[in-house]
Amino acid sequence: MDSSMRCGMTRVEGVCMLEPFAHIWSRVCAFQAFSDDLLIATYPKAGTTWTQEIVDLINNDGDVALSQRAPTHLRIPFLDIPKIADLPQFPSGLELLEKMASPRTIKTHLPFQLIPPSFWDQNCKVIYVARNGKDNAVSYFHFDRMNLLQPEPGTWSQYLTRFMEGNVPWGSWFDHVKRFWDERENHRILYLFYEDMKEDPRREILKIVEFMDKKLDDEVIDNIVDRTSFNTMKDNKMSNYTTFPATIFNHEISPFMRKGTVGDWKNYFTINQNKLFDSRYKLEMENTSLQFRTEI
Ligand code: A3P
Repeated sequence: MDSSMRCGMTRVEGVCMLEPFAHIWSRVCAFQAFSDDLLIATYPKAGTTWTQEIVDLINNDGDVALSQRAPTHLRIPFLDIPKIADLPQFPSGLELLEKMASPRTIKTHLPFQLIPPSFWDQNCKVIYVARNGKDNAVSYFHFDRMNLLQPEPGTWSQYLTRFMEGNVPWGSWFDHVKRFWDERENHRILYLFYEDMKEDPRREILKIVEFMDKKLDDEVIDNIVDRTSFNTMKDNKMSNYTTFPATIFNHEISPFMRKGTVGDWKNYFTINQNKLFDSRYKLEMENTSLQFRTEI
């Protein structure tokens, strides 16, 4: 395995960040949002790609052919990402957004306090998706194994310690999910849960449709539910990240579309790790009304 591309980490205003991302941070922070921009914000591995596919289909009234026009990262640019390794198919998010016609849908993993202020000045709509911390940690661990730009994850046990400390790119999961939750009523934020989307995708898709002020026929909604199921997205090269070169995403190590379930953490957490996580959770989350389900 070529590990030479793996990035180092640094901090941006106290938040762990990959070095090349930190390098362009001041330009990202100065990004000028427009009032009709829609932001999809998540902690990494919370269901970003799933939500991107849903939103893209809603934006295009369920037109499947249009959703096949390009891979996810070109349809809905990733604001925070710099140009990757001089590969022409990987311009920076900022570069893509500059050329994109409005209304734009934009992805970010930035925690609330690092979101460029223009999004709030412009009163942009934000869809935030949160996933329970245990499944989120397992998913992130496997992602860091296969994404050869991320720092080496080490063993699961080493990784879980780093995750709980927030020593992973985009920082503490606890802070991320909490801050957006606390701010959800101060801005136009639709706060969704991965577990709810798994439990009843139609119900959650309808919330997104309403939030986006769209009116779609039942048939179109049904089709969006089908098109965005885990199995369909796993087989769709425009949404499964297999268009990325294996030097960046090595799906043989672990596929990007890995399991897509709630409760996989039970296959990884030892009894002791579970106890440690639960007590850390209690400490970090004592002052919030935010609650997660770790099984459905
Ligand atoms: P797992 O690693 O648990 O399988 P992100 O897009 O934020 O990086 O999140 C990726 C996670 O969401 C992965 O979780 C992936 O399998 C899951 N996922 C992607 N599309 C999904 C879908 N349509 N339904 C359920 N889970 C999905």
